[in-house]
Amino acid sequence: MPANKPKKENKPSWRHFSFVTAGPVDDYLYSMLPKRDEVLAEMEEYAGQHDIPIVGPAVARVLQQLALMINAKTVFELGSAIGYSTIWWAQAVGEKGQVIYTDGDPKNAERARKYFDRAGVSNRIALHTGDALEVLSEQTQQFDIIFNDVDKEDYPRVLRLVSPRLRKGGLFITDNVLWSGRVAEKNPKAASTKAILEFNRRLYESDDFFTTLLPIRDGLAVALKK
Ligand SMILES: C[S@@+](CC[C@H](N)C(=O)[O-])C[C@H]1O[C@@H](n2cnc3c(N)ncnc32)[C@H](O)[C@@H]1O
Repeated sequence: MPANKPKKENKPSWRHFSFVTAGPVDDYLYSMLPKRDEVLAEMEEYAGQHDIPIVGPAVARVLQQLALMINAKTVFELGSAIGYSTIWWAQAVGEKGQVIYTDGDPKNAERARKYFDRAGVSNRIALHTGDALEVLSEQTQQFDIIFNDVDKEDYPRVLRLVSPRLRKGGLFITDNVLWSGRVAEKNPKAASTKAILEFNRRLYESDDFFTTLLPIRDGLAVALKK
């Protein structure tokens, strides 16, 4: 490690994003969050120990709040990992709602299924293992929310798929749109950074959406389908 590289603080990996809010302010924001239930708390701990990049509770609350604000009953999630954000969606859509979980890694899906059972939300979640973009492209229904959290190189392709599969007044939400601040680099070389820059630009330019980028954690794009 170079001598001048800041040491990682003693925080779970999903919290290493205080480039937007100063460390103590970030601590304050997290200290304000209500305690999570046993299953979510356990998932946060597991994700921290195994470097699984979950959205974490600050962003998850925003997701749930947005779902409640538009009375969302159907959510399609691209990139669900161990199902942490999926549970927050499932709680938001209620008994009769439906959330589609997608992940390319069957081991993640297996672990997620157990958490869903324990959280009492299995009946609201359909699990798909495979390419999330393929699963989305096969959908004929229109969703209230589409949440994008897959590999960043795929973001421009996701954007091309979303609009016809989202109802008017629905939300297209995307995580990591500030990419640890790399979006502000002068000459970005990484394919992931270039893909995010293209995605953000196209999303703002799109006539289909009214978009804002919320600078919370690693940046959350919220786009309202017009
Ligand atoms: C950032 S994690 C998802 C975290 C999850 N949304 C949460 O906050 O709890 C991204 C996940 O997407 C999966 N993934 C990436 N690209 C994918 C693709 N094209 N299709 C399916 N899964 C993908 C990875 O396996 C990884 O588990």
